[in-house]
Amino acid sequence: MSQRDEQADDGAEADDGVVPPLRCVQLVKRYGDHTVLAGIDLSCSAGETNVIIGGSGAGKTTLLRHLIGLEKPTSGRVEVDGDDIAPMSEFELNRVRRKFGMVFQYAALLDSLNVYENVAFPLREHTRKGEAEIRRLVLAKLDLLGLPSRVASLSPAEISGGMRKRVGLARALMLDPKIIVYDEPTSGLDPLTTRTVDEMIEQARRQFGVTNVVISHDMASTFRIAHRVHVLIRGRIVESGAPREIIRTKNDAVREFIEAAGVDPAILEGEGRLVKD
Ligand SMILES: Nc1ncnc2c1ncn2[C@@H]1O[C@H](COP(=O)(O)OP(=O)(O)O)[C@@H](O)[C@H]1O
Ligand SMILES: [Mg+2]
Repeated sequence: MSQRDEQADDGAEADDGVVPPLRCVQLVKRYGDHTVLAGIDLSCSAGETNVIIGGSGAGKTTLLRHLIGLEKPTSGRVEVDGDDIAPMSEFELNRVRRKFGMVFQYAALLDSLNVYENVAFPLREHTRKGEAEIRRLVLAKLDLLGLPSRVASLSPAEISGGMRKRVGLARALMLDPKIIVYDEPTSGLDPLTTRTVDEMIEQARRQFGVTNVVISHDMASTFRIAHRVHVLIRGRIVESGAPREIIRTKNDAVREFIEAAGVDPAILEGEGRLVKD
């Protein structure tokens, strides 16, 4: 078999011939005899907001850790831009991880550093830029994300929850990633702050042309920001589709999940929706 044939057999291309930025094929993860990911098939669409939604304990964070190469699968493939990262060495993975920006749950800022140093951190860790260049890049990112320059000298504890998320995003964007991954960005936030974080996620996608992958258990927020929804139930993606397809699901488990969330489907028509279909 020629190299070309082998590549075709991998099936790294989606039906439309475009290689998805992120794809999982029959991804399985077991811890001892506990199967957490039971054969995940997932394809994320480029330049769009992909929301992976599921209840707590469904395996969302575990899946995310596989997507960025922090965990090795028991079996199956995890493809980033068509390359299977599962067999990669730590050295190769470090190169792949540069494609990702991570916004962690609760922003995960370093409390011992002020906002400026938190945002500068990736540049100091991964580049050899001088102080003047770092300063220029940090202040530019803060400005682009609507953070006034006075917050630069404050500590994370001195700013609001919404601002902390913005600082977390500024830090994630520092190395110009292609994909931004958010782990439950709105959990623990009040409804108003949730809305501003949703707007931030959509704004970052448009402004920086990135692919968004958002892990969530918040249905209302999902319907505001998602181009594609991937429903994770008991270690499998049981349905993927546009929000209006998901809301008309024929899958009982998905319907149960949506109904339990108590979200008004009218959100798909109203002004609440941040992205166009
Ligand atoms: N390192 C690990 N060892 C053993 N079990 C784990 C490990 N990481 C996650 N799990 C288990 O996997 C399941 C899913 O966890 P997680 O991915 O954190 O779910 P979610 O983010 O959807 O709430 C849980 O039952 C958790 O206990
Ligand atoms: Mg989690």
